[in-house]
Amino acid sequence: MIGSSNGVAVSITGLGARVPERVMTNDELSTMMETSDEWIVERTGIRERRIAEPGEALSDLALPAAREALEAAGLEGPDLDLVIVATVTPDMAFPATGAIIADQLGAKDAAAYDLSAGCTGFMYAVAQAYGMLAAGLAHRALVVGGDVLSRILDWSDRSTAVLFGDGAGAVVLQRVPHGGFLGFELGADGSGGPQLYLPAGGSRTPATEETVADRLHFVQMNGREVFKFATRVLVSSAQAVLAECGRTIEDVDVYVPHQANVRIIEYATHKLGIPEEKVIIDVDRYGNTSSGSIPLALADARREGRLQPGRLVLMTGMGAGLTWGSGLIEWTDGGGE
Ligand code: ACO
Repeated sequence: MIGSSNGVAVSITGLGARVPERVMTNDELSTMMETSDEWIVERTGIRERRIAEPGEALSDLALPAAREALEAAGLEGPDLDLVIVATVTPDMAFPATGAIIADQLGAKDAAAYDLSAGCTGFMYAVAQAYGMLAAGLAHRALVVGGDVLSRILDWSDRSTAVLFGDGAGAVVLQRVPHGGFLGFELGADGSGGPQLYLPAGGSRTPATEETVADRLHFVQMNGREVFKFATRVLVSSAQAVLAECGRTIEDVDVYVPHQANVRIIEYATHKLGIPEEKVIIDVDRYGNTSSGSIPLALADARREGRLQPGRLVLMTGMGAGLTWGSGLIEWTDGGGE
């Protein structure tokens, strides 16, 4: 799916983020499994990640992130008419975490639901909210991207456990006088599904004593294949959305790639020809936070003063599905209608 703005300007008018307090370093991981700080840093660039406390669920991270985003936009919960939570680790299978958060925010008039597109979930959800706002179906949308992946990791599998962390980010989307999203490119290749999946707990293989014993409720991944896929789509999706919007790589001021692995980001950055100083990297501090990755990186970019009005920001996510998605936005400073 690819398209550019139909002339209606829709932008991010508020941004918030939240990670758990608890820091888990590579050295701590190496006391739990056979790994080392050296191996993890060299292969992934990750130095530490945040891990939720027992009992801390996605909505506990999403709610403060959402409140911060609303405040930045000058809105309150009841102003919202759409809440989408992109995640693969909702509080529970149902009700949707979107509905839980809408209730906590007092968003009584909002449609509220969850969206599952792996690490690409945030980009899919932003594109969906954009479409509803541009069509006039919604007016003030909250999009949360977040995951508590530590709950679905096999802590005896060093090939996956070292890669991920917990965190959530939130954005408010509104119509604005000018600027905002220029276009999106989203895609999926379901034939790659088995490269990164959680085998049991759904209608195909429901939970049984055997599935628990066989550790089928945890993430399974073919790292090398996902690596190849990630480097390919980071480049092709970015190029596609730029071409669709009539822009070039030189026009991009801030590049926010999905934070899976520094090597993947460096490969894509080099291939695209984006100067290093334009790239946001925080995977060293947070690991791969799945749907939380892009909004957390946006929050970092904002803290560093890099999200100034008029700047062109390119975001690309990729992950389970296999899925990918890019969005191009001319940053605006609040100003929602
Ligand atoms: N510590 C120490 N050794 C390890 C670890 C570890 N944590 N994990 C694997 N190894 C070992 C392997 O057993 C293997 O040993 P062997 O040669 O004796 O068999 C050796 O290290 C090399 O393993 P590879 O899998 O070939 O290592 P590679 O260089 O491919 O790096 C990695 C593995 C980091 C997982 C890489 O493939 C990768 O980053 N893939 C992308 C995966 C990803 O980011 N997924 C995120 C989810 S999807 C998304 O967000 C896009």
